[in-house]
Amino acid sequence: MVAITVLTLKDMVVSRNLFSRHKKSSERRVVANLVQYENRCRSEILALQPTNNESMNRNRFEEILLSTHRNGMEKVLNELEKTDFYSAPASSRFHLACEGGLLQHSLNVYDAAMILREQVVLREQNLEPLLPTDSIAIATLLHDTCKSDIYKKATLSRRLASGLWEKYSGYSVDYDEGLPLGHGEKSVIMLLSWGLELTQEEMLAIRWHMSAWDLPLQSPEHKESLNAAKKKTPLVSLVQLSDGLASGLFEWKR
Ligand SMILES: [Fe+2]
Ligand SMILES: [Fe+2]
Repeated sequence: MVAITVLTLKDMVVSRNLFSRHKKSSERRVVANLVQYENRCRSEILALQPTNNESMNRNRFEEILLSTHRNGMEKVLNELEKTDFYSAPASSRFHLACEGGLLQHSLNVYDAAMILREQVVLREQNLEPLLPTDSIAIATLLHDTCKSDIYKKATLSRRLASGLWEKYSGYSVDYDEGLPLGHGEKSVIMLLSWGLELTQEEMLAIRWHMSAWDLPLQSPEHKESLNAAKKKTPLVSLVQLSDGLASGLFEWKR
């Protein structure tokens, strides 16, 4: 068996109801994307196999990033190609722990951010210029670049309700691979070292996307830096919330 994260049918109905009020093609595409991925991950056999959905996701991922026309973006896409970014899971066992999960998660965070932005700007119009869509695309789609090349397929064990143990195919994490630089900060360093031109706001949003989950409790400097980053740009909070919305709801499983 494979550890899989899926949206239940009930979630999909809720999602459809949520989106049915919005007739924009981009939003219809979000729902179609989620439905396709749910169908894909429902099959445990398919979960470790590349599917057409992966190439569809990849096209969409690359299209959105290239549409930002940001200096260095083509190089970033070339570098990602050399890693397992497009086939890696989003986590070892928490959310979208299946092949292509990291790519799907990155798109989910982007979709969540665009939905949140639309609603936030309706209410607080002064935030619109502070949440540029190209920055949202870059910060969300690339926030977990650090997860490239750290997951390895592994046979794991889990305890069943009966008390018996069973083996299943999943992932383990190998932090020795590449440069062990941390999480959000590792993504920023990777992107800059590949030559991507990032704004300060984008760097802050990627660096602090884990919010307090990534804080060493004994470090007041980290806590103060996180608070200062949130005050500096609303992009930090938007990316944090979108990461949580995607992993906690879009990718929710019982
Ligand atoms: Fe992350
Ligand atoms: Fe994430």
